[in-house]
Amino acid sequence: MDPRAAPQRGGCVKATATAHANIALIKYWGKANEDLIIPITSSLSLTLDDLFTTTTVDFSSLEPTAADQATLDGATVSGRPLERICGLLDLVRERAGIDQPAKVTSENMVPTAAGLASSASGFAALTGAAAVAAGLELSDRELSRLARRGSGSASRSIFGGLAIWHAGDSDETSFADPVVDHGFAQEISLVVLVLNSGPKAVSSRDGMRRTVDTSPLYESWVAEHAGHLREALAAVADRDLPRLGEAAEANALGMHAAMRAANPPINYMNDASCAALQAVKDARAAGFPAWATMDAGPNVKVLTSTKRAAELEAWLQSRLKDSVPGMDTVVAHAGPGLTVTR
Ligand code: DP6
Repeated sequence: MDPRAAPQRGGCVKATATAHANIALIKYWGKANEDLIIPITSSLSLTLDDLFTTTTVDFSSLEPTAADQATLDGATVSGRPLERICGLLDLVRERAGIDQPAKVTSENMVPTAAGLASSASGFAALTGAAAVAAGLELSDRELSRLARRGSGSASRSIFGGLAIWHAGDSDETSFADPVVDHGFAQEISLVVLVLNSGPKAVSSRDGMRRTVDTSPLYESWVAEHAGHLREALAAVADRDLPRLGEAAEANALGMHAAMRAANPPINYMNDASCAALQAVKDARAAGFPAWATMDAGPNVKVLTSTKRAAELEAWLQSRLKDSVPGMDTVVAHAGPGLTVTR
């Protein structure tokens, strides 16, 4: 190896990390500080098993004067997505006192057409791999803070199962922690109704800025949010799925109402989403534990018990087969936190 290419502080130069996607049950939508990605609200999420990103960062294979390079599923990354990757790499390099360019190779493992490829698993894996490759020894909390700078939701993907991202009010105080749940995360699952896996019309980044700046409903969502989070955490402590589900659904629908009141309006729901939301209500009326949540896209994720997830999936498929032809479904269970190998 060219000695010029090695990180200066005893780093291992190249590392591979795997991080799993997460879905927020109580949402992050809106930033108090855009540069540092400090959110306005704290959030609570479930990290998922089958949806993950594996990323290798190599600080040794490019000429010292080269620019960073990245591929995602074999395709070259350029433009804004590459800038965001370089931004995170710069933070790692600065901290490690190195200035080598990196070669980043990333693969998204998502079940066929799950439509959930997310920046959360991507930036969590990038952070883990880059930190180790640069020779940094960081705690999970420091990794969470760093991943947050790439994409807010990535701060939660450092941890498996249920994770809470404390909003905080500075770089030091805004990080995620695992939620002590005594195994409750294993008892809950999400049935993901994949209604459209195309690119989203408005990015989360732009959508949340517009909602904060223009929606008359944003403040009332934030005011309700504290109660939703309190309820959700109490529900986890009591292993009370219905209580968790009600808080999660109210929080998500309130967020979407605030988005729709923005100017110009942001509407991530399409006809299929509305049909799916109605089907979730019907499933509940039919006796299923089933509560909906939605993010910055049309897909509906249904919180349910692990025991009844497969049965609910089949029920929803049959219920929606005429109104939403071609719908895909994926059942996701609780998954692990970040792992890094050298
Ligand atoms: C609706 O983490 O993708 O999924 O911090 O701007 O990169 P940036 O946004 P991102 O937003 C996720 C928003 C959400 C809710 C959530 O995951 O809490």
